[in-house]
Amino acid sequence: MQATVVYFSVSGKNEQLAQAISRELDSRGISVDFVQLVPKRRTGATLGALMAALRRPADLKDYPTLGYEDLLVLVSPVWAGAMTPAVRAFVTNLPSLGGRRVINVVCGFHPHERVVESINKKLKTRGAGPIVSRAVRTSAFEHHDYVTDIAADLCAKALD
Ligand SMILES: Cc1cc2nc3c(=O)[nH]c(=O)nc-3n(C[C@H](O)[C@H](O)[C@H](O)COP(=O)(O)O)c2cc1C
Repeated sequence: MQATVVYFSVSGKNEQLAQAISRELDSRGISVDFVQLVPKRRTGATLGALMAALRRPADLKDYPTLGYEDLLVLVSPVWAGAMTPAVRAFVTNLPSLGGRRVINVVCGFHPHERVVESINKKLKTRGAGPIVSRAVRTSAFEHHDYVTDIAADLCAKALD
């Protein structure tokens, strides 16, 4: 079985969660392609938040190519109550997902269910199969084992 773990992160929390999910998949014998979304131009927080609020996509350096993996994992922050421009670019340009399973995790100061749902909607229009999704608070990352536990729980829900 194969998985692609795609994430966007500026200060490292989403990367930390993406790594924990990759480790959990690896421990299950699943080979992981680990991909960071990188915009062509770096924007500061103000322009980034403005683009997110206006639902504008970023221009990405590379658009990850998906093969025939069984699982797509997307880990991303909330900016201005919306998905980040980099994630909008990724989900908007996705090829057909052909019914593959997806884990979609969104991190913010607050748990933004509406952002989770808007990403899920884009994933479904691209032909996603079952989606396991969650909105998580970044403050919870400080709790011992939280990141490892949530990674294990998401993988169990998606795969068992
Ligand atoms: C420009 C910007 C806008 C943000 N807007 C929100 C927001 O509207 N709601 C929220 O809960 N968190 C918001 N956050 C917090 C981020 O979601 C949080 O810092 C992020 O998930 C941390 O991810 P990272 O460490 O992987 O970069 C914002 C952060 C930034 C930088």
